[in-house]
Amino acid sequence: MSIVTQLKHPLLQHKLTLLRDKNTNSKDFRTLVKEVAMLMAYEVTRDFPTEMVEVETPIAKTQSARIAGKTVAIVPILRAGLGMVDGILEVMPTAKVGHIGLYRNEETLQPVEYYAKMPKDIDKRTVIICEPMCATGGSIIAAVDLLKARGIKDIKIMCLVVCEVGIKAIEAVHPDIQIFTVGYDKELNDIGYITPGLGDAGDRLFGTK
Ligand code: PRP
Ligand code: URA
Repeated sequence: MSIVTQLKHPLLQHKLTLLRDKNTNSKDFRTLVKEVAMLMAYEVTRDFPTEMVEVETPIAKTQSARIAGKTVAIVPILRAGLGMVDGILEVMPTAKVGHIGLYRNEETLQPVEYYAKMPKDIDKRTVIICEPMCATGGSIIAAVDLLKARGIKDIKIMCLVVCEVGIKAIEAVHPDIQIFTVGYDKELNDIGYITPGLGDAGDRLFGTK
């Protein structure tokens, strides 16, 4: 079974098309990334266990479901992953947020770590890594290595677009994680960008190019 789940809901696919469009400006790009992340949170948490509790409505007492014992940490990979955090927090306001700073060396395409700060009890939480672009997969592999070294077992990844090459690379070393994505593209170009992709997610979010 593949580690990837592609979310094909029309709302998500529509918003991805707007994200791919080179004429979408930074302000709209940021809004769309946030909205997509919020909608994706619905699928990413689908397997969370629930328990029945008593609640009193204005009319009567009843048994109703709530999420049982799951606490979440959202971990964006800087910079681009930051764009997804607020959307997830909208629907999971009690989640804690850790940060992993990685950038890709432009020549070797290898990830370089420059920052890591996690909530204290992260090993007891389900971790949702936010990484909009999975190109070679190197950044996701490095982030999962770092989290597993801290004892975290329950790891899910939220991407906007993944590339087949990157997925194969991740699957080879971390077959136990789940990746959720909206776009699933075939190729990388000769400078390591997902094709057709949506360009440089960090630059488009923060207007740095
Ligand atoms: C980009 C992107 C991912 C990484 C994906 O980061 O945001 O983190 O590349 O590539 P990979 O799968 O080949 O590792 P970038 O280095 O551009 O940093 P930024 O997010 O700070 O712009
Ligand atoms: N990082 C991006 O932001 N986009 C790509 O296509 C590849 C890496």
